Amino acid sequence: MLYAVTTDLHYDLKHLWKEQPSLFLERLNFKSPPFLIVIGDLVSFAEENLEKAFQYLKGFKGTILFTPGNHDLWTKSGNSFDIYTKFIPELCEKYGIYYLDDKPFIFSKTAIVGNIGWYDYTFRNPDIGYRLSVYRNKIFPDGSEWMDRRFIKWKFKDEDFTFYCIDKLKKQLENVENKVEEIVLVMHHIPFKELVYRKPDRMWTFGNAYMGSKRIGEEILKHKKIRRIYCGHSHQDVVADINGIYSRCIGSNYRKKSVEFFEIK
Ligand SMILES: [Fe+2]
Ligand SMILES: [Fe+2]
Repeated sequence: MLYAVTTDLHYDLKHLWKEQPSLFLERLNFKSPPFLIVIGDLVSFAEENLEKAFQYLKGFKGTILFTPGNHDLWTKSGNSFDIYTKFIPELCEKYGIYYLDDKPFIFSKTAIVGNIGWYDYTFRNPDIGYRLSVYRNKIFPDGSEWMDRRFIKWKFKDEDFTFYCIDKLKKQLENVENKVEEIVLVMHHIPFKELVYRKPDRMWTFGNAYMGSKRIGEEILKHKKIRRIYCGHSHQDVVADINGIYSRCIGSNYRKKSVEFFEIK
């Protein structure tokens, strides 16, 4: 069975896309994959923009599976956790889109397990010498901000929400393990340091602390039926073999949208 997977469409910024949105849809539909997996940052501010993005994605001629990203949970005056657990699942229901964060998707002998993932500063690089409290404050040494600082509004510390994601992921993986032969794992944030794009730039290195969590990766590697892992979030394309598992951070960015097609027997 053929699957298409993409991420970081940032549909509310479609005026920045290099390709017409209709042509991008044509590209998705070209090989007629029955399934499309969208791994987060479909928009910023889901309350205002997600419905339009879902209307657009309905031009895909198959089943859509969705997990959100940090931008989807941004809010000006609401609660990000309510958006994650109520607003998005209700809108998914309305548009017939499968919300992976609620429940894995099982087709034949394959499960697609999806999770937003989060960051807990385990990808920070101690060599650049900033304390944990500096990262938690989400202001870069050059004065710019990690914008989750303004627009993610909930009761969690980042480490706590990461643990919440790990717990959910663990239960979902354990639940599907005896029902299927293989698992494809998709996650907005990055679970392995090997998938984090690095460059010799102090601010870039600082920003990598917000890319994901090695604790999530440690949980993933306990589950032996995972065959493929996809993530996004960094907007940089990185492919790695993680303990024999094909793993890719799909580098869609604000201008160029990437899609991978993969086949599962
Ligand atoms: Fe993004
Ligand atoms: Fe993101």
